[in-house]
Parts: sequence; C-alpha cells; structure tokens
Amino acid sequence: MTVATSYNVNGTTLLLVFVFVFAILRISHAADVPAVYVLGSSVVDVGNNNYLSLSLARANFRHNGIDYPNGISTGRFSNGKNIADFIAKKVRLPTSPPYLSLMGTTPPITGVSFASGGSGILNRTGVNYVQYISLAQQVEYFSMVSDKLIQQLGQSGAQMHLSQSIFTIFMGNNDISAYFTAGSAVSQQYTPQQYVDLMLSTFKGLLKMLYGLGARKMVVSGVGAIGCYPAQRKTNSTGECIVETNYWSARYNEGLKIMLQDLKSELLEMNYVYFDMYGAMINLFQNAQTYGFTDIKDACCGLGNLNADAPCIPTSNYCPNRKNYVFWDLLHLTEVVGSMFVDIIYSGTLEYAVPINMRQLIDVC
Ligand SMILES: *[C@@H]1O[C@H](CO)[C@@H](O)[C@H](O)[C@H]1NC(C)=O
Ligand SMILES: *[C@@H]1O[C@H](CO)[C@@H](O)[C@H](O)[C@H]1NC(C)=O
Repeated sequence: MTVATSYNVNGTTLLLVFVFVFAILRISHAADVPAVYVLGSSVVDVGNNNYLSLSLARANFRHNGIDYPNGISTGRFSNGKNIADFIAKKVRLPTSPPYLSLMGTTPPITGVSFASGGSGILNRTGVNYVQYISLAQQVEYFSMVSDKLIQQLGQSGAQMHLSQSIFTIFMGNNDISAYFTAGSAVSQQYTPQQYVDLMLSTFKGLLKMLYGLGARKMVVSGVGAIGCYPAQRKTNSTGECIVETNYWSARYNEGLKIMLQDLKSELLEMNYVYFDMYGAMINLFQNAQTYGFTDIKDACCGLGNLNADAPCIPTSNYCPNRKNYVFWDLLHLTEVVGSMFVDIIYSGTLEYAVPINMRQLIDVC
C-alpha cells in the first residue's frame, strides 16, 4: 500500500516534471522575440499603479476585470485584458509583469512593464492623480533593468537581447486630456501648438534615451480621438465629440509621425511602427455596425450622463454586453477594441500602421 502510493507519487512527479520541461521548451522556442518592454499610461498598465499607495488612478477593484480570467481586478483599466496582453500574445510571450511587482528581484528575461495609469509624456501630466510614473521615470526604471541584463548576459549579450526585443510605447492620451479639461493649468501657460510641440520634443528626447539604452524596435502609438471619449463627449450638450480636442489630437499625431521619421534618420538602427490610434478609432465609429458595436458613446461602466460622471468603481452601473461597447469607462476602451487595435498593429496595412506593421518589425534583422 505504502509502496504503491509512493510509486504513484513518483509517477505523478515525473509526469509533472516532463510537462514543466516541455512547457519551458515550448515557450522558449515558440516566442518570436526575446522580450517585450512596455512603457505608457493606463492604456497598457497591467498593475504598476496597484503599488502606488497614493495614486488615484487605480483599477484593482470591481467591476474592472469582469471579463478577465476568473473575473479578477488586476489593475487593468478594462473589462478584461488590455493592449499589452494582446501584443504579448501575438509574439507568444507572457504579458510583461509590472516593474513595481518585482520588488528588486531579477526581472524576467521576457520583459517588464513600466506603464502607469494617469501618466504622460510630460512630468506634470498626472498630478491630479497624485502618484504616477511619468515617462521620464519609466525610462529611468528601464535603465535599471538594462543594468541587470548586462550583469546577467554581459554587455554584448544584453545588447543583442535588447536589439531584438519589442518596445511598446502608448503615451500621450493623458497629456492631451490634461490640456483640454476645464480649469486646466497648462492651458493657461501654453497655446495648444506650443503644448503639442513640447510633448513632441520631450517624447523625442526620451525615445533617444531608450535608443541609447539599447532599444531598436519600437511600437509607438499616437493618441486616440480624445474628443470622442465619454469624458469629453459629456461636456457637449449634443453628446457628440469635442471638435477642438480632436483637432489637437490629430495635430499631435501628425507631428509624431514626422518626429519618428526624423528620429529614424538620426538613429540609424532604429525601426518602428507608428500606430494611428486616432484613425483606427474614427474608422470604428464610422463602421460601428460592421464591427458589432451598438454603443459608441457611453461608457459601459460608470454613473450619470453617458455613464461618464464617475469612473468604474464598485458602486457604478455596468453594461451586460461589453462586446457591443467601444468604451469601458469614461477614459478607456473595452477589451474587444484593444484586441482589434492589436490586430491592426500586428498585421494591418499602411492605413493605420506605418511605415511597417509589427510582423514586419519583428522580421527586421
Ligand atoms: C522630468 O523628470 C525627470 C526625472 O524623472 C527629470 O530627470 C527631468 O529633468 C524632468 N524634466 C523636466 C522638464 O522637469
Ligand atoms: C458639439 O457637437 C456638435 C455636433 O453635434 C458640434 O457641431 C459642436 O462643435 C460640438 N461642440 C464642441 C464644443 O466641440
């Protein structure tokens, strides 16, 4: 009896070891890139802000995550997964974990996420959320990860690893929102053109720093049609998009497209995908029915006018049919939109992914 049990346990253990080894082999052989490093705002935050005790930009409570596996609230600003998860899935890697969850342990070799809800390109963007990781701070955190990589892999090993890795940067939505919000301090200080120029020059400097630290393959998103998010729509009595906010969202994106071209001519080994999130969103609004959306205006989760008078908090209402909504809450897209956008980034045409898509970016030697 005892012998049989112990034999059985050994058999099971052996089986588990095999399964485990095969799983590791599968992961290491199936992945298309060594790692994904993620920088950005709540669009791609997978839980960094859970570790910022003072931050008001948080999503680690219901109804966030209602469609995430097991319905758990992870800190993602979504009903389910977000863009960072879908990008990782495309390259067959696990989603890069939040940098702040690592607590000084060795970062996983498959990538780290520095993204933080509320943050922006400009250091001050996010002050209303009290605590956040600005893009400059995210780059600083990345430099610490890159130091650890050099210790692990050596200088040339780390350089090789990083040059093949994907850097995804989804930043800027909060900077534009901050300017076009009633009572905004920055709108007293800068004209919209000056502000957009400041965003672009700051972003350019930070991308150069990333390149200096070894980044070569970047996926950079433009801002969405910020004037069409429920937070902005609700300030228009007709419930339609705010024209000026959209105008400057598009102007910023035009500037970003040019800035990336310039940057590539300065940094010879840089390659990138620019994702036109604005264009992709407008297309989605215009062809809503084709994509199965029945509501492109209201937040699914929230309270009041357009469900946009409150964020998605436990006392908020939420819609039963998340797949038919574009917006999860007043400032964020639903999971299904995130998944559609990543399909465009990965295999889309020049319409929304320029000058190459992510599949082509991966193939660049
Ligand atoms: C932004 O913050 C970083 C530190 O994260 C600092 O090095 C940089 O000088 C700041 N930039 C400006 C314009 O204040
Ligand atoms: C509100 O929406 C209408 C269209 O219904 C548009 O003409 C108007 O410019 C919008 N208002 C603002 C402040 O953008």
